[in-house]
Amino acid sequence: MLEVKKLVKRYGSKLAVSDVSFKVEKGEIYGLLGPNGAGKSTTINVITGLIQKDSGQVTIGGLDLDKELTKAKYLLGIVPQELAIYNDLSALANVKFFGSLYGLSGRKLNERALETLDFVGLLDKAKDKVKTFSGGMKRRLNIACGLVHRPKLLILDEPTVGIDPQSRNHIMEAILQLNREGTTILYTTHYMEEAEQLCSRIAIMDAGQIVAQGNLSELRGLIEENWYIAIKVKGMPDVDKLSRVSGVEKIDLNGNALRFTCRGKHAQLRDMLEVLGQTHNEVLDLSIEEPNLEDVFLTLTGKRLRD
Ligand SMILES: Nc1ncnc2c1ncn2[C@@H]1O[C@H](COP(=O)(O)OP(=O)(O)OP(=O)(O)O)[C@@H](O)[C@H]1O
Ligand SMILES: [Mg+2]
Repeated sequence: MLEVKKLVKRYGSKLAVSDVSFKVEKGEIYGLLGPNGAGKSTTINVITGLIQKDSGQVTIGGLDLDKELTKAKYLLGIVPQELAIYNDLSALANVKFFGSLYGLSGRKLNERALETLDFVGLLDKAKDKVKTFSGGMKRRLNIACGLVHRPKLLILDEPTVGIDPQSRNHIMEAILQLNREGTTILYTTHYMEEAEQLCSRIAIMDAGQIVAQGNLSELRGLIEENWYIAIKVKGMPDVDKLSRVSGVEKIDLNGNALRFTCRGKHAQLRDMLEVLGQTHNEVLDLSIEEPNLEDVFLTLTGKRLRD
């Protein structure tokens, strides 16, 4: 559905995207995961024709963007990172405006607009002006505007930033539903939980480059020499002492919950329990965890996904 080959984009001397290549197959939800400034929006803005690339190739549904941009755009729906809706118009008028840009008109436009508002849970607010909306409602309307013409490929750029959990859940559900109905999705986020929950494959981006791509188990496999132990204890543990246990690379402490990043499968667990015993921290819960995408990112880049 989408192929990006050796994409390069500079802003002046700043190399924002450097040699990025990936392929999104029909019917999948593909994730671009990366921290602030990774180059996600720049990549998306090139794909959607909003900015010019310096080099590389983009094809959408087999159409080369350099040759058939207008045709390719009809296959696309875009939900930009910055809200792109009109505050002084009603929700319905907004959705109808974007639908009309894609050639819908008359009764069909009206029906589609109402259907789409219903889909994002805003039908009862159809006649209300956007300026009366909460942040989450605006986000959902932003999505409706990108959807009204039923695109084959929907591109969402961080659609859940700064919203309440209820709107977030609604958006997550809506994306899965659209995908079940056949829409291919390119999803950009810096929340690893969202990428894990939604995406069939993920490209992890940092500083303009893809540092790894694959499905969740392939990405986890990149750091298989690491393992992760979560232990809940009674009382305050001695993190200093625990961090000296051989093989322990990192300890995150959250309340009474410890999470150990360990290297190599040796006897650390026994040693940790011994230290906890010495410091009289009763173990309330213990589990061996799969690495998450934050662990993958941290191992590959030495940085955290979140600032
Ligand atoms: N118009 C611009 N002019 C100059 N530099 C830019 C411009 N837009 C983006 N950049 C720079 O390009 C790099 C990539 O930015 P981009 O917006 O693509 O990142 P992002 O992954 O979308 O980040 P975020 O998660 O913060 O949205 C950053 O270093 C950014 O400062
Ligand atoms: Mg961005």
